[in-house]
Amino acid sequence: MCGIFGCALKNGKAAPLIHAALKRLEYRGYDSVGEATIQNGILNIKKDQGKIDDVHKAIDLDNLPGNIGIGHTRWATHGAPYQVNAHPHTDCENKIAVVHNGIIENFSEIKKELEGLGHEFRSKTDTEVIPHLIEENMKKGMSLVEAVRDSLKRLSGSYAIAVLSNIEPDKIVVARNESPLVIGVGEEATYCASDITAFLPLTNRTVILENGELSVLEADKYEIWNIDDWKPVKREPEQVTWTTEMAQKQGYPHFMIKEIYEQPRCLRDTLRLQDLYLDLMATFLDRAGEVFLVAAGTSYHACLAASYMFSDLAFLATHPVIASEFIEQEGMAININSTILAVSQSGETADTLAAVDYARNRAATILGLTNAVGSTLTRISRVYIVQQSGPEIGVAATKTFTSQMSVLAQLALRVSKIRGKIGHRQIEELEKSVNQIPDIVEATIKKNESKVLDVVKKLKKKPVFFFLGRGISSATAQEARLKLMEIAYVPSIAYPAGESKHGPISLVEPGFPVVFVCPRDETRKTIVGNIMEMKARGASIISVIEEGDEEIKSLSDEYFEVPGSLPEILTPIAFIVPLQQLAYYMAVEKGLNPDMPRNLAKSVTVK
Ligand code: F6R
Repeated sequence: MCGIFGCALKNGKAAPLIHAALKRLEYRGYDSVGEATIQNGILNIKKDQGKIDDVHKAIDLDNLPGNIGIGHTRWATHGAPYQVNAHPHTDCENKIAVVHNGIIENFSEIKKELEGLGHEFRSKTDTEVIPHLIEENMKKGMSLVEAVRDSLKRLSGSYAIAVLSNIEPDKIVVARNESPLVIGVGEEATYCASDITAFLPLTNRTVILENGELSVLEADKYEIWNIDDWKPVKREPEQVTWTTEMAQKQGYPHFMIKEIYEQPRCLRDTLRLQDLYLDLMATFLDRAGEVFLVAAGTSYHACLAASYMFSDLAFLATHPVIASEFIEQEGMAININSTILAVSQSGETADTLAAVDYARNRAATILGLTNAVGSTLTRISRVYIVQQSGPEIGVAATKTFTSQMSVLAQLALRVSKIRGKIGHRQIEELEKSVNQIPDIVEATIKKNESKVLDVVKKLKKKPVFFFLGRGISSATAQEARLKLMEIAYVPSIAYPAGESKHGPISLVEPGFPVVFVCPRDETRKTIVGNIMEMKARGASIISVIEEGDEEIKSLSDEYFEVPGSLPEILTPIAFIVPLQQLAYYMAVEKGLNPDMPRNLAKSVTVK
C-alpha cells in the first residue's frame, strides 16, 4: 500500500516534517523508508530497509538539508524490502527523485526499452522506470512538468507519485491514477500525501487530487491539470475536521469497515499481478504429482474455495488442509512429488510455516501466496505470489480473503489453459467475469449497507447462527461463520447444506437464524430443498442471492442481493461481502471493537 508525503516550505527544514509525516503514515507500510530533499541545487537522499524508528536511529532521517522534499514508507510490491528497493528512486544522474504508491503493470517492457537506450537500473522495483522515463523526456528538451506528464502516458496500472528534481528545485510534481493522493494547503507551505493523516497537525485545508490529474506544488501555490487534455482544474481547499486517528481510518469508524470498502481496489490490484509468476506457479501446479493447499483460518477458507476452482476449471484435484493438522493428517504421504501451495496473508503464521518446513524436509515443492513481501513464506517458497492488498490492520481478514480468492481463481484459469481442459470461449467468459468482480463487489457493498444494519437490529439477540451453502458456497458459509464468531462473539455453525440433515438440523426451532449462501448455480435446485427443510422447522431464513432471484427471495425472511451474474466458481468473492458487513455491524451493535477482538492476534506466530 505504501505511504507518500511531500512538502514545499517557504521557510524551515523539510526533513523533520517528512520524517514525522511518514511516522503518521506508517500504518500503510513499514518495511523500508526514504526521503529526498534539495538544497543549493543538490538532491540529497537517505533511505534504508526497516521500520522508520530503526532507520532513523541508524541514519538520522531529520538530518537532510533543504526546505523542499519528498518521503516514502514502503509496503513492498515489486522487489524485496532491501535498501536498494526503498524509495525514492532516481534517474541515472541522481537529478530526479520519485516516490510512488501503486503498481506499474507494464514496467518490464518500459525497463527493457530504457535499458536499450543506455539507462542503468539499480532496483527490482516497478517504480524505477518513472525517473528514467522522466530523464529521457527531459533529455529531449521537455520541462519537468511536461516530462512527468508525458511519462505518465506510458504507464498502465495504479499510481500516486511525487517527483522532485534539482533541475527545477522549487517544485514537487504529483499525479494520481487510482492510488490516493491529497494536497494540503498551509501557511507558506504546501504538502502532498497518501492521506490527510500525514499533514493533519500542519494544516486541515485539503484538496483531493482526482484520478488522471497532475498537480505542481510550490511553497505558496498549487496548480492542477487534467493529464489527458491538459485543461487546468480549479479546486479550492476544503476544511476537514478529522482527528489523526479518524484520518488513518479515512473517516471510517474502524479499520475493518474501511478494509471491507477497500475490497474493490484490492481486487483490481490482483488483476495487475505479473504474468511471469502466475504462469510459473500454474506450470508447477500442472506438473505436480499431488497438490496440498495449506493454510489457517480465513486463508484456509480461501484454500477450500480454491479446491473447487482447481477441480472445476483445471480438472486438478487438490487437498485443502488446515495447517495445524497437516503433519498428522498428510505427513507420511508427503514426498518429492508433492506440491504444497501455502496461503498466508502474513506469511508468518507458525502453523503454516511448520507445515511448509516439514514438507520441505521431505523434498516437496513449496509455492506461496501471501500479502507480505519479505515474509518467511516468501523466503522459503520456490515461487511466490504477493496478492497486493496492502496492510490489513483489522484483526479479521476481509480484503485479503477476497484478494486471495481472486489470485487463486486466476491461477486455476491458467492451469486450465495449460491443460486445455475447457473451451477457449469459456475461458474468455471466465476471464471477463474475473475482471468484472471489483465492480460487482463495489456494487454489493453499497447495495447491502443499510439492509445489513436493518437485519442486525432484528437479529442481534439471537444466541446462535447457522450458515449453509452447497458446492463452493460451503467455503463462503465457513468464512461467514468465522467472521461472525470472532468479531461479534456469536457462536455459529457452518456446514455444507447437504450435511445439515445428518445432525445439526436437530438444533433448529422456530426463529432459529439460518443463513443460506445461494448463488444461481448448479446447486440451486437442491439448496431450495434445504431451505424448505429449515422453513418447515420454523427457521428464520436469511439468504445471500443473485439480484432478482425472486424464488429464493420469496422463501426468505431477509435477503442480501449481489448485483450482476457471476460464474459459480467466482461467487464466493462477492457473496461473502454482505456477510462480512453482517459480522462487522453485529459487533458494532453489541458495543464491541471489531478491529481488536479479544484473545486474537493479527498474525499467530505460535503453534
Ligand atoms: C480470521 C483471521 C485468521 C487468519 C489466520 C491465518 O479473520 O484473520 O483466521 O486468517 O490466522 O493468518 P495468515 O493468513 O496470516 O496465515
